[in-house]
Amino acid sequence: MRRIKLFAGIAAAALALAACGGNAGTDSGDASNEGKAWEGDDSEVVITTWWEAGSEKVGFEALGDVFKQKYPDITFTKAAIAGGGGSQAKQKLAADLAAGSPPDTFQAHAGAELTDYIDADQILDVSGLYDELKLKEAFPATLIDRLTSDGKIYSVPSNIHRANVVWANPAVLKEAGIDPMKQPQNLDEWIADMEKIQAKGKTPLTVGIAWTRLHLFETVLLADLGADGYNGLFDGTTKWDSEGVTKAIKHFEKLLSFTDKALYTEDWEPAMQPVVDGKAAYNVMGDWAVGAFNAQNKKDGEDYIYFPVPGTQGTFDFLADSFTLPKGAAHPGGTRAWLDVISSKEGQIAFNLAKGSIPARSDLTDEERGQFPQYQQSAMESFGKDTIVSSIAHGAALPVKSSNAISDAVAKFVEGGSNAEQFQMELVDATK
Ligand code: GAL
Repeated sequence: MRRIKLFAGIAAAALALAACGGNAGTDSGDASNEGKAWEGDDSEVVITTWWEAGSEKVGFEALGDVFKQKYPDITFTKAAIAGGGGSQAKQKLAADLAAGSPPDTFQAHAGAELTDYIDADQILDVSGLYDELKLKEAFPATLIDRLTSDGKIYSVPSNIHRANVVWANPAVLKEAGIDPMKQPQNLDEWIADMEKIQAKGKTPLTVGIAWTRLHLFETVLLADLGADGYNGLFDGTTKWDSEGVTKAIKHFEKLLSFTDKALYTEDWEPAMQPVVDGKAAYNVMGDWAVGAFNAQNKKDGEDYIYFPVPGTQGTFDFLADSFTLPKGAAHPGGTRAWLDVISSKEGQIAFNLAKGSIPARSDLTDEERGQFPQYQQSAMESFGKDTIVSSIAHGAALPVKSSNAISDAVAKFVEGGSNAEQFQMELVDATK
């Protein structure tokens, strides 16, 4: 099986080097084997995405506007299936790919998730396009590494997100006597704050549908295992039946006791809304959340604050969205145009400003970086100096089959279908 390297243990130094313009130096020597697969019909481009609601839709529209300006003659067709994290879109996509009717391009997470499509021979090598568009100089070497398999590059990234962020309503904290400027340093301190909030009759923590609970769980694993221990879950050096995971399950169970079960059927945006509205204190979500606060004209530092999930300070739980060239795409020339736009400075700036993520390109000028609001400035800084680890819930750490199995185990536990011990054994099985 082909392997895409994970971000395991990548230290700040390597990233800092990349941010200084380090060349990825990826060997794309045999790209010509498949020819220039991106040349061909450019009358249209059909794009499969799950960015169909709220701030994500707005981000995609910003990208669409850049596309329509640059390629006015290409018909732009969005084949969107709503559902955060791609929960619905990926199923439909799998069916279309299996039936041999792929879109012209589809959204896929950088990292292990790509291996599913590569192994199934469903996406094509675009490393030659990286040469044409000079992308190897534009992206950090460490990111290119995560998109490369056997010397070939299989997708083009549009952004980088951070998953281990707590979004909080400072007014709710103050009401419970908690100083919003004094952030809890570990999960136990955070739980103590949640008890104070609960005593005031507000919901301490919100979480929504299955993937958002997996998202919360992965950040708890990270807090309890530390970056090295967490990375070890994916190379076998940390066992899923180890004490560290048992401890994380206990913390997770405790955190769930502070949540409102009525929100368990909601996608991330409605599940986070009580925090925006001052009815709840905290939500753990990737930094697409900032797009939702901003879209509702909420002010950074006044209406909302953010900090790393307690216990994960100094670690950046990474994921990146990227777009592919599927085998058998009807309009490969249209795909080329799309990949050109999403990788361009103009496209990355327009998209990421709305989306809350940071540009995947590391060659922005100070002036271009300066356009980004405070949150993204802080994320760019963290990405440059923190230890990077890979998200489970968003395809960076494990292939879809394993992350789906973990997600099912989490769902069963959350809904009372298994106890802590059974849950841990199911995690062992899910990753076998
Ligand atoms: C992630 C994706 C993000 C965002 C989020 C919520 O998987 O990478 O860009 O869309 O889901 O839908």
